[in-house]
Amino acid sequence: MSILTRRHLLRRAALSAAATPVGAVLGTTALATTATGLGGCQPTDQADDTATASDPATRRSFPPDFGWGAATSAYQIEGAAKEDGRGESIWDTFSHTPGRIRNGDTGDVAADHYQRYAEDLDLMRDLGLRSYRFSISWPRIQPDGTGAANRRGLDFYRRLVDGLHERGIAPMATLFHWDLPQSLQDTGGWENRDVAQRFADYATIVFDALGDRVPVWLTINEPKTVVQNGYLSGHHAPGRQDPDAAYLVAHHLQLAHGLAVRALRATGGTSRIGPAFNLHPCYPGDDTAAAAAAARLYDGYENRLYLDSALTGNYPADVLADLGSDSRMVRGIRDDDLDIISSPIDLLAVQYYTPIYVTASGGTAHRWPTSEADWQQIYPDGMYDTLTRVTRDYGPIPLTVTENGLPTPDVLGADGTVADDGRVTYLRDHLRAAHRAIAEGVPLESFHVWSLLDNFEWAEGYEQRWGLIYVDYPTQRRVFKRSAHWYRQVIADNAV
Ligand code: FCB
Repeated sequence: MSILTRRHLLRRAALSAAATPVGAVLGTTALATTATGLGGCQPTDQADDTATASDPATRRSFPPDFGWGAATSAYQIEGAAKEDGRGESIWDTFSHTPGRIRNGDTGDVAADHYQRYAEDLDLMRDLGLRSYRFSISWPRIQPDGTGAANRRGLDFYRRLVDGLHERGIAPMATLFHWDLPQSLQDTGGWENRDVAQRFADYATIVFDALGDRVPVWLTINEPKTVVQNGYLSGHHAPGRQDPDAAYLVAHHLQLAHGLAVRALRATGGTSRIGPAFNLHPCYPGDDTAAAAAAARLYDGYENRLYLDSALTGNYPADVLADLGSDSRMVRGIRDDDLDIISSPIDLLAVQYYTPIYVTASGGTAHRWPTSEADWQQIYPDGMYDTLTRVTRDYGPIPLTVTENGLPTPDVLGADGTVADDGRVTYLRDHLRAAHRAIAEGVPLESFHVWSLLDNFEWAEGYEQRWGLIYVDYPTQRRVFKRSAHWYRQVIADNAV
């Protein structure tokens, strides 16, 4: 498993140390733009900074019922860490551990959404959202991760869901966005196979309470990030650096996903359900066969490990071989597990932020400008490649983009405006790339900007601002950024 000790540390802080500027690898030669397993790149969709949806020459109209949305997650916005019987999560523990989070920030207050949800619902309505993706905090529902439901926790989400319906916004709820009850971590967390069953029990409580009021459920947000950041680099909760544990955790997260899908079917409900994967197109960093082979294996760890198991019922053979038959993951796979993991789903949620360029030695390289998040390269064609790849390789399963966005250095001006023009350009270019995929037959039904509001960005605390809506943390005042005004117009036009 030598590969695991130096690989898969892409996310966030870890990348900056590992990456080599691609120019150093390539000189002036253009980079090979064939993505491994992605079937090749299309020409770059040139940005035109002056174009608006009303320019007939550049206007791209979306399907009539397209689900324009925005996304958040519980720990990142809710605050109210001790309210109404909420238990502790691993992110409470982690953020309160000195040295873990930039500036010592925690999610104790965050954007105070738990108290201000009604105001936030009105902002969503003003934005014109048709879909809102949020997550449910497991420790609000089961403070210790097992046993009876905490009614006050469920009531919060009932109020939220009712408020969405009242405003004509479709709720899309993620069951797990990383805030595992600390009591379950104390029993081994996701290394403990039993936690997958606990997750299905929790999911059943939530399905019973909210049922068909939530038309789309997402099981687990970005299992890969839990694996890579929580158990390889260790800069997310629970802060481990243990490659052998990491991939056992991957298997248990996939198992938990499958068990939750079955739990929903068992309720007889009519809602749809699927997983939420962050997919990274993996391109060779140069035109050598070694780089192509390295990119292919990288793609296995980044994408196929999750896609293949959920959609085809197999783990990719190259990844299993690389892990080795003595790895805890391979030893942990039981007879029916892959049948459970590949229980039929209704849709697949895709989150796209960045491509990865893989060098011949298996390292990573930068080719495109980064945002304030140093792991993120801005490459809209990667959105097109990702969406078309999923359809080509896995068939016409309905897709939703549940996260796409970037952090920008937003400042609330004296005139009360926030000029986040970089976010407008980014979103427009990524939406155009998504539109191109739809035009070529990709069944993409909705798109959610990350994020609705500025929020607690995990190890980066509050320093990075990802929202369409600015949050002035000392006062909790919300202000539409320029991108929010722009997005409202995109939604009204149904075009970009
Ligand atoms: C994704 C996470 C989300 C947010 C964005 C920037 O990986 O799902 O919570 O942190 O990145």
